[in-house]
Amino acid sequence: MKIVHAASELFPYVKTGGLADAVASLAGALVDRGHEVAVFVPGYREVVDHPDAVEAETVLRPRIEMGDVFMSGEIRRFSPREGLTVYLVCRDEFFDRRHPYGTGERDYEDNHHRFIFFCKGVVEAMRLLRMNADAVHCHDWQTGLLPLLLRHAEQRHGDILAMRTVCTVHNLAFQGVFPMRSFYRTNLPEELMGIDGVEFYGQMNFLKAGLLFADRISTVSPTYAREIQTPEFGCGLEGVVASRAEELAGLLNGIDSTIWNPAKDALLPATYTIGNLKGKWTCRSELLRRHGFDPDYPGPVFGMVCRLTSQKGVDLVLANREFFKREDCRLIVLGKGDPELTRGLRELAQALPKRVALSTVHDEGMSHLVTAGADFFLMPSRFEPCGLSQMYSQVYGTIPVVTGVGGLADTVVDCDANPPEGTGIQVAVSADGLLDGLDRALVLHRDVNRLVKVQLGGMRKDFGWAATVKAYEMLYGDGE
Ligand code: ADP
Ligand code: GLC
Repeated sequence: MKIVHAASELFPYVKTGGLADAVASLAGALVDRGHEVAVFVPGYREVVDHPDAVEAETVLRPRIEMGDVFMSGEIRRFSPREGLTVYLVCRDEFFDRRHPYGTGERDYEDNHHRFIFFCKGVVEAMRLLRMNADAVHCHDWQTGLLPLLLRHAEQRHGDILAMRTVCTVHNLAFQGVFPMRSFYRTNLPEELMGIDGVEFYGQMNFLKAGLLFADRISTVSPTYAREIQTPEFGCGLEGVVASRAEELAGLLNGIDSTIWNPAKDALLPATYTIGNLKGKWTCRSELLRRHGFDPDYPGPVFGMVCRLTSQKGVDLVLANREFFKREDCRLIVLGKGDPELTRGLRELAQALPKRVALSTVHDEGMSHLVTAGADFFLMPSRFEPCGLSQMYSQVYGTIPVVTGVGGLADTVVDCDANPPEGTGIQVAVSADGLLDGLDRALVLHRDVNRLVKVQLGGMRKDFGWAATVKAYEMLYGDGE
């Protein structure tokens, strides 16, 4: 099949979280299955400057209709591997900036224009390059308008651009909600401004458009697919999601074992396998040394790598300050994000400099080192559509301590509740729940035989794409 993806992040070109990894590894898994895959991403500065993209050829200079004006754009493309083409939708005014979404303090004020332009660029490129896609697959709010814009362009030009459209929600908490006065920039019919269209409490909601108008919708784990039909997790869109329950699939992300694999990981000081864990100890020592701790420290080391947001339960960790004061252990956090949570963690690290360390940068190499070198990986999320880090940590022999929500519930079995199959520690979403998990981690750490059994159980798990990619093929139209 010919499959076109559109997403705002794609590893290794631009990444702020798991979306980049998920889109890249899904695209790769589809190519491995023999499909022809194109991925559109905005031509952000960091993408355009990436060594792979420097040689990109310009294939089109479309004029994109944005309301009552036309804006020029440029479509460039390069091919990182056979079967895969990456298309960049470029316009310096929108994408030649330091960060994809905002300054760090707040979002860019023209994000709606940037992503309307991006989606229209995708549609124009598909039309003018005659891509004839079997399926167009859009991801998250940034591309939520794509199914509508595509069908609208088909009507206007009397073309068929794609047989099927699919919209995947990687995180329902981000919806792309903007003032309705910008609707005219979409050039869509006015009747779509209403409640049966993009309207959401008087504003326009990009993700709602994707959820309502894509032929098929999906999210990234079976549990999250159920959760988002409830008010607790639906972020106000539970009714919209539930109205399409029949077309909704919950498909667990896989992980890319060419990148996240302790036996081959080029970003680690040493590699290791289930048969020989020596390299894990080297990683552990290096992790401790790099954070100013004794490399031979024998007690439990907790690692955490995440966007610092309330989603990730950073506040639950902060609520357990006393645990880190009381217990002899190490906590190493790598994460960027919310200023308030960053401050809280910084204060904790300053108060306990011999135990707690924080790095507030995006560092791909360090994320691998924490994943490999820690004994336990903390991920007490309040909600988690899928979560990749808890899968990475299991295959690296680092025991995840997670809450029982979304994809965490689908990928981590508690080792106390289910000893034969347990590969992690599952807790309730609360400060006390996490405390219980931290205490259980200490107990497990003292019992070396059991610790190793749980570790090896995680390393043996298969988080590959095999089943999921076939399920996507069904969504794309195979067999239906
Ligand atoms: P989410 O997509 O919600 O952020 P996931 O678990 O799906 O959560 O994916 C997070 C990804 O982002 C992982 O690959 C993780 O290693 C990475 N990551 C998060 N913060 C950082 C950081 N500061 N430096 C490097 N990688 C990070
Ligand atoms: C989102 C979610 C995360 C998921 C990732 C990739 O960022 O927060 O749970 O793993 O997308 O699908």
